[in-house]
Amino acid sequence: MFPSKILVLCCLATLFQLGCQNKTTDNEMSDVPSTPPDQDQTASSITSAFFGTTASGDSVDLYTLTDDQVTIKIMTYGAIVTSIIAPDKDGNKADIVLGFDSLDPYLQQHPYFGATVGRYGNRIANGTFSLDGSTYTLATNNGPNHLHGGLKGFDKVVWQAELINDQGQEKLQMSYLSIDGEEGYPGNLSVKVQFYLATDGALYIDYFATTDKTTPINLTNHSYFNLNGGSDDILDHEVYIKASRYTPVDEGLIPLGQLAEVAGTPFDFLAQPMPIGARIKEVPGGYDHNYVLNDWDSKLNTVARVSEPTTGRTLEVLTTEPGMQFYTGNFLTGIPGKGGTAYEQHYGFCMETQHFPDSPNQPDFPSCWLSPGEEYRQTTVYRFGVKDQE
Ligand code: BGC
Repeated sequence: MFPSKILVLCCLATLFQLGCQNKTTDNEMSDVPSTPPDQDQTASSITSAFFGTTASGDSVDLYTLTDDQVTIKIMTYGAIVTSIIAPDKDGNKADIVLGFDSLDPYLQQHPYFGATVGRYGNRIANGTFSLDGSTYTLATNNGPNHLHGGLKGFDKVVWQAELINDQGQEKLQMSYLSIDGEEGYPGNLSVKVQFYLATDGALYIDYFATTDKTTPINLTNHSYFNLNGGSDDILDHEVYIKASRYTPVDEGLIPLGQLAEVAGTPFDFLAQPMPIGARIKEVPGGYDHNYVLNDWDSKLNTVARVSEPTTGRTLEVLTTEPGMQFYTGNFLTGIPGKGGTAYEQHYGFCMETQHFPDSPNQPDFPSCWLSPGEEYRQTTVYRFGVKDQE
């Protein structure tokens, strides 16, 4: 009834075998070029298969991006990253993101596992903003506030997928047209998100959008990482975040407006890498805060690095965005996930690269407005590796 389609593209001749995972040492924050490495060395492939059907009868496909080290699965429902399989220091592979084994649980309420979030990721206070003398009312789904695009955000729609070849690099491109008035937002917004695996063991995510009316926009990815494979909490993961400041919030997690210094507080992941669990008890509820990334210049910068001591797995995050929500899975409550694992509190952490929460109502924050004639661009890279063993 639903013939599975297998698309095997790419597999270009491998001129040089890279042969090993990307390796970095503890405090190293390597400079990464803003374009991916030499594509001639790519030996990745993209395939797809039928994954299931939504309640309204839409077919959902699951795409698999593979190279010799990493395998990543992304589905057309919500443009959700469902799986990232990466090796540890001994070459043992494990799935390092939280999620489900089948489509059905993704169709139910879940905490945005792996999702592409939009039209506006994070919160907009009271689900309202003013623009050119008009007040807009958005869907509210988080107490009085609007969160992650509302009741039916970009994480709950089926995207159109196609494979494209961009100068020799095969990419999975997901497209979605968000119509004028959807969840209360102004303007028809045409969105494209491109996913690809580059030769440095990294998942690149490039976001593009255009609109026919001025609208706020803030697209991000909501993967929950667990570098030890998801069967335990993430409190031993050591984190570096290149941010001297963060945006303090009220009890509804809406920024108060000012920027606070991290130095001397439990929010300081800059001075040196710190285990997530070291000071988490001093932060009521756990970390769920927007970091103001240092040296923001809209170019691709390395902004965070995480390592897990037992497995040696590492994650580096690069982005063009000014902020990053560091969220430590505070609201996970034993959700039954992959392989029957119950995802308890702090079983995953998110690094949601973004514009600051509530930017439409905070004129001093970097602008989140997209107007007709402009193109929204955002690039974020999640680079997987292992720590050098001394
Ligand atoms: C938010 C959290 C929220 C989580 C899941 C994060 O981006 O900051 O407060 O619970 O997403 O919705």
